[in-house]
Amino acid sequence: VKVVTTHVLHEMKLRGEKIAMLTAYDYSMARILDAAGVDVLLVGDSASNVMAGHISTLPITLDQMIYHASSVVRAVKRALVVVDMPFGTYQGNSKLALRSAIRIMKESGADAVKMEGGSEIIDSVERILSAGIPVMGHLGLTPQSIHKFGTYVVRAREEAEAKKLIEDAHLLEETGCFSIVLEKIPAKLGAQVASELKIPVIGIGAGNGVDGQVLVTHDMLGINQEFSPRFLRRYHNLYAEMMGAFQAYINDVKSLDFPNEKEQY
Ligand code: KIV
Ligand code: NA
Repeated sequence: VKVVTTHVLHEMKLRGEKIAMLTAYDYSMARILDAAGVDVLLVGDSASNVMAGHISTLPITLDQMIYHASSVVRAVKRALVVVDMPFGTYQGNSKLALRSAIRIMKESGADAVKMEGGSEIIDSVERILSAGIPVMGHLGLTPQSIHKFGTYVVRAREEAEAKKLIEDAHLLEETGCFSIVLEKIPAKLGAQVASELKIPVIGIGAGNGVDGQVLVTHDMLGINQEFSPRFLRRYHNLYAEMMGAFQAYINDVKSLDFPNEKEQY
């Protein structure tokens, strides 16, 4: 297997091969995702919602992200593993940011970190990069700022916000980020940013003019039935499949069907 590096992602953009990225938070799922050939595995702070049941990404801690990340790293042979820096571990203090990023890299063995924001966090991005840690940017709907936005609607529809997003994307590229994620923005804007930047631009709800796509694995599997934004394509109804399996098991236990003769010692 050819191992995916930041350099490989850059080559993929150059030859026009789209990058497939999904989230992973645990060993068993990451093993399947990696064996399937996913290029990038994101240990997203969406674990706060998906794994822990919080209503936002804000509560998850650095220790919890490192636990998820180290579990994923132990499973992966090929994919590039990127870890979200959680809320409060990098904003407004570049020394704290570097310390947080170093902990993620040292204690999980991941390949890179991801950070939300542009000019506001550029000192932190720069300091982390200066330590040789690859950084993926994240612009558009940045969920750690949900209390500032007040809503999960599409971002950067207005000219001023779109202009700032384009400037931030260029700033992140110039500072040395190896890639950026654009979340929930107009497709036209996503395509414009991807064409202006040399680094790969990965979209989630950012249209088909970007260099790759990312989805939350549990959402695309249909485990979470309540969450259905327009950008989400469901590849399975795993909620129904799992419900069927669990109910069959319960039924088998209660009806004394399980275990049968061959299933005991
Ligand atoms: O945390 C996450 O899952 C993410 C992706 C949606 C980009 O940041
Ligand atoms: Na995230």
